[in-house]
Amino acid sequence: MANVIVIGAQWGDEGKGKITDLLSKSADVVVRYQGGVNAGHTVVVNDQTFKLHLIPSGILYPDTECIIGSGTAIDPEILIEELDRLEALSVSTNNLLISQTAHVTMPYHRIIDKASEERRGSQKIGTTGRGIGPTYADKSERIGIRVQDLMDKEEARDRLSWTINYKNSILEKLYNKPPLEPETVIKQYLEYAERLRPHVVDSSLKIYEAIDKKRNILFEGAQGTLLDLDHGTYPYVTSSNPVAGGACVGAGVGPTTIDRVIGVAKAYTTRVGEGPFPTEIEGGVGDILGDRGAEFGTTTGRKRRCGWFDATIGRYAVRINGLDCLAITKLDVLDELDEIKVCVAYDIDGQRCEHFPSSPRQFARCRPIYETLPGWRQSTEDCRSLKDLPKQALDYLKFLAELMEVPIAIVSLGASRDQTIIIEDPIHGPKRALLYTNGTPAGHGA
Ligand code: GDP
Ligand code: IMO
Ligand code: MG
Repeated sequence: MANVIVIGAQWGDEGKGKITDLLSKSADVVVRYQGGVNAGHTVVVNDQTFKLHLIPSGILYPDTECIIGSGTAIDPEILIEELDRLEALSVSTNNLLISQTAHVTMPYHRIIDKASEERRGSQKIGTTGRGIGPTYADKSERIGIRVQDLMDKEEARDRLSWTINYKNSILEKLYNKPPLEPETVIKQYLEYAERLRPHVVDSSLKIYEAIDKKRNILFEGAQGTLLDLDHGTYPYVTSSNPVAGGACVGAGVGPTTIDRVIGVAKAYTTRVGEGPFPTEIEGGVGDILGDRGAEFGTTTGRKRRCGWFDATIGRYAVRINGLDCLAITKLDVLDELDEIKVCVAYDIDGQRCEHFPSSPRQFARCRPIYETLPGWRQSTEDCRSLKDLPKQALDYLKFLAELMEVPIAIVSLGASRDQTIIIEDPIHGPKRALLYTNGTPAGHGA
């Protein structure tokens, strides 16, 4: 039995959906603990592609219970579309549970998100426009609407009337936008509430009961370490805590219940939205990575910025999340390159810096110090074990593991489930005894 957190170790879109789906085979319960419909997790099974925004990537296993936890921001309209789409593809959603204490994204959140981005002009964050920042801002300001508020019609009516009127004055006076019609919004959200009602539970209690029964629980992070509100590249971050610590708060479990933390990282780096990105490659190899990796956002369709792997960020993710091991995805995207660069440290104003700087001003001045490795120039898509990999690809993986001082447990070589090398099962295998430094099973603590 193990309770495992899966987090993104970079700026999101690392392939968490694929890895969570893969590991869900051994999980009894999968919990999303933060974020909202800004997330887009793609899972490919046989020839079918599933794009999930809020529903945990364990939903494709009929016996796995999936929980949308308390720390999430739920947009009921998009959640219902997601439920309908899955049902239309004959995926049962009977096992989906929704936390009654999760916050609800309202129409005014989406409007304010977009309007405030317009206002910021060149200072914009490049948000997904899904109302995430304003939903969490209301949570902090203690004027948020929670799922349970919608479950009692009278209470919902009272709370929504007051809140919509309050938000209307902001929309009109601050943003010069037309007000919302309270009755229309209330009617709509009460309808959503009826559709979601059968799924709504005390999620923290459900998770506690599952832990008590020694069931395997997987906590699925959205976004990534560098988008974390506290520990990411502020202000170019999201408004929740994707890091491993966020799983305990967002799911409502104690830290002592967590057995392992797995970081998912691409074999290179991508970022959507604004903000510094030291290893970004504009044009050339950046375009090759974008094309081969099909780097377009699952949620907004925006082109993702691409660059080399950044081990400084990797080491930071290991530290902030207490990673036990890594899943490296999209190794196949590097297949055709002659040479591959890895950022091993930064140069900040002529000084070598091994650590990710917490000051945004310093981070903006970081210049990558690269080491260059030879490419393998052959397909890895059909490799199913480490010995199938070209030597240069194996050397590349070892180099990353050594730089980050963390073992690699999984290597992904394509979007489908079978395009994966499981070096060591990170749920059932012996903790920290996985791959992989200097070619011998090692890793810290091993
Ligand atoms: P997430 O947000 O972390 O779940 O990642 P996304 O789903 O937004 O983006 C990852 C994309 O890469 C998806 O389209 C996946 O289907 C795809 N993908 C995942 N793993 C691999 C891999 O190893 N190789 C390739 N070529 N594609 C992958
Ligand atoms: P998954 O779970 C990549 C980025 C946005 C923007 C910043 C703030 O698929 O990895 P927000 O709408 O959250 O206020 O936007 O965060 N962002 C993501 N980037 N993957 C995601 O999710 C993201 N969710 C938000 O592009 O830069
Ligand atoms: Mg994504």
